[in-house]
Parts: sequence; C-alpha cells; structure tokens
Amino acid sequence: MDELLNKALEKPRNLTCDELVVLLSISTNKEMEKLFKAAYSAKERYIGRRVSVRGLIEWSNICKKNCYYCGIRSGNKNIERFSLTKDEILATAEFIFSAGYGSLVLQGGELESPANTDFISSVLAEIKSRWGNGLGVTLSLGEQEESVYQKWRDAGAHRYLLRIESSNLKLYEKLHPQGHSFERRVKCLHTLKKLGYQLGTGVMIGLPGQTLLDLAHDIEFFAKVDADMIGMGPYIPHADTPLGENIPITAEYMQQQLILGLKMIAVTRLYLHDVNIASTTALQALAPDGRERGLLAGANVIMPNATDVGYRAGYQLYENKPNLDENAEETMAALEASVKSIGETLRLNELGDSPHAK
Ligand code: 5AD
Ligand code: SF4
Repeated sequence: MDELLNKALEKPRNLTCDELVVLLSISTNKEMEKLFKAAYSAKERYIGRRVSVRGLIEWSNICKKNCYYCGIRSGNKNIERFSLTKDEILATAEFIFSAGYGSLVLQGGELESPANTDFISSVLAEIKSRWGNGLGVTLSLGEQEESVYQKWRDAGAHRYLLRIESSNLKLYEKLHPQGHSFERRVKCLHTLKKLGYQLGTGVMIGLPGQTLLDLAHDIEFFAKVDADMIGMGPYIPHADTPLGENIPITAEYMQQQLILGLKMIAVTRLYLHDVNIASTTALQALAPDGRERGLLAGANVIMPNATDVGYRAGYQLYENKPNLDENAEETMAALEASVKSIGETLRLNELGDSPHAK
C-alpha cells in the first residue's frame, strides 16, 4: 500500500484502474488514515493549508427533470416550489461578497426556456456590473443548449458545475427516467469546456448497484473530460423518491456512506492532484464533522448555503440536509471555527481558481 501511495504522489494520473479499485477498497482504520494523509499531502503541495469558500444560492427548486433519487424531482408533489426574485438573488450575492467568500454558486433545478435564459443572463449582468471580477460566478443549472451556455458565459459566468452523476451508462439509465440522455449530458460537459468555462463535474457515491469499479471509472472520467473542479458526495436516500423510499437510513448505513465518500475524495485527489475538490454538504448530513473530515481527506473547497433560511426547507435533495435553520451569519462564524479546528485558514476575498484551471 505504501508503494501505491508513493506512486500516486509521483505525478498525476499515475494509477491504473485496478490500482484505483485497490485504494477504494481499503477498509482498516490504519490504512484509511494512511490514504487520507497521502491525499492531504497532495492537496497541501498544490493548494496549501487553505480552504476556498463558495456562497451557495439555491435560487429555485423548480425542475423539469424527474431523477429517481432527487427530492426536488418534478414528480414529487410533497414539496412547495419556490423561485427567488432577482432582488433576492442579488441581496444574497451582496451578503456573499461582504462576507468575503469571493465566489458564489447559483444553483437551481433544470429549466430550459427563453424566459429562464434571459432571467439568468440579467442576474449575471447585474452581478458583473456591481462586483466585476471581485466575485467569481459558478452556475449549476443543468443541461442547456450551447447558445444558452454561450450567453451566460458572455454575461459573466466563468465556472459551471454539471455532475455526470454516474459515468456508467447502465447505472445512469437505472437512475433516470427515459428521456434523460446520458449522451447529451456528456456533450454538455464538452461544450462547456469548449466555451472556456472552468468545468466542474462529479458523481453520487454509494448508489444502489454501484461498484468500486464504477467509482474508479468515474475518477477516470473526471480526467477524461479534463475537469477543473469536482463536486461529489455520498448518495443519501430521500423517502419521497422511487430510489430512496425503501432504503432505511440506519446509523451503519450513514457511516458506510460517509467512509466511502471520504475515500472517493482521497483517491480522486491522489489521481488528479491539482483540481478543486469540494467537501460537500452531503458529508455534513451524515456526520456533524463530515465537512472537516472531507477537507482532511483531500478536499479544498466548501460551499456554505447562503440562501435565506426561509427557503431552505424547499430545497431538500435528500433527507437530513444540514443547517436548515442556521442563518448565514451564524454559518460564517461556524465556518471559521471549523476550518481553524483542523489547522487550515479560509481564503477570503479570492476567486480560488484551481491550479489545474490556471
Ligand atoms: N443524495 C445525494 N445527492 C443528491 N443529489 C440529488 N439527490 C441526491 C441524493 N438523494 C445531488 C445530485 C445533483 C446535486 C444537485 O444533488 O448529484 O447533481
Ligand atoms: Fe432536477 Fe438535478 Fe434533482 Fe435531477 S438531480 S431532479 S436535474 S434538481
């Protein structure tokens, strides 16, 4: 195992698929500690002991898609739908800017319409006119036509997150109804890269039917699309979804999902080296210290929710999503304390591009 870790640290993409599987299948505490330490050292080499912050704005839970795992799928009639107004989005952006986060992520359900395209463009234009290059803007608004991605790029967005969810076509098809095209999703990733966006992608980890080989292939997929940023997290069942309704969320299940999520972060860091990797909210949903553990396993970005607390309950992608009632200022204090507790500092007032993107 030491040999494998040293080989991984020599240079990026230095492991075979089989070796990725070996690292993902590690199970003793002692070996896991070694794995996380090695991944952390790779992170330290490229990024230092610093954590970038993105303020997350969940602007709308209206989605035309019906993914079998997701709590805000169009078929879920048990939630109230909302969309923030332009003023509400801008007020949240103002908070993010003043808090010194340096970047925001505008995320929402997938909508494709000229009205939606224009709305987002006008929000972007206003953000650019108020804060210029002082505030990084990442979009996470699903699959769109190239012309739409182009418009948003022109209006000032420079990063885009679009998770592939699973790079295994068969598994992808099991997780989505007909009409959700894997091929289109991959094409969108290539289009985004071509248009000059910094590209983020990722997967859900620990899905029913997913193997360690699938996860190894996911990591290779990140390399193949030349991702600059990785946002991935453990799958957490949601009771109002076809995939989640019969999966009991026991303490053992949560622990297993957390560990697999952490291992996936570590192995991805060891394979890609210089990308941004988020320690996602889903980790925090599984354990109170999940986010810190993600950072210690090689992640370097956190994405605190900056949306007004009144709207958060409407954005339950999965059960037990944390911080439903913590207001944004409290989150900031909690963030600083949490990052400090593991010997890292927040990178405030910086865009925080990944070395890979540079
Ligand atoms: N568990 C974990 N992550 C989920 N997502 C959606 N539903 C779940 C779930 N049940 C993730 C998807 C999507 C992102 C916005 O949220 O990966 O891309
Ligand atoms: Fe919509 Fe994304 Fe949820 Fe699928 S995962 S239903 S595209 S919000």
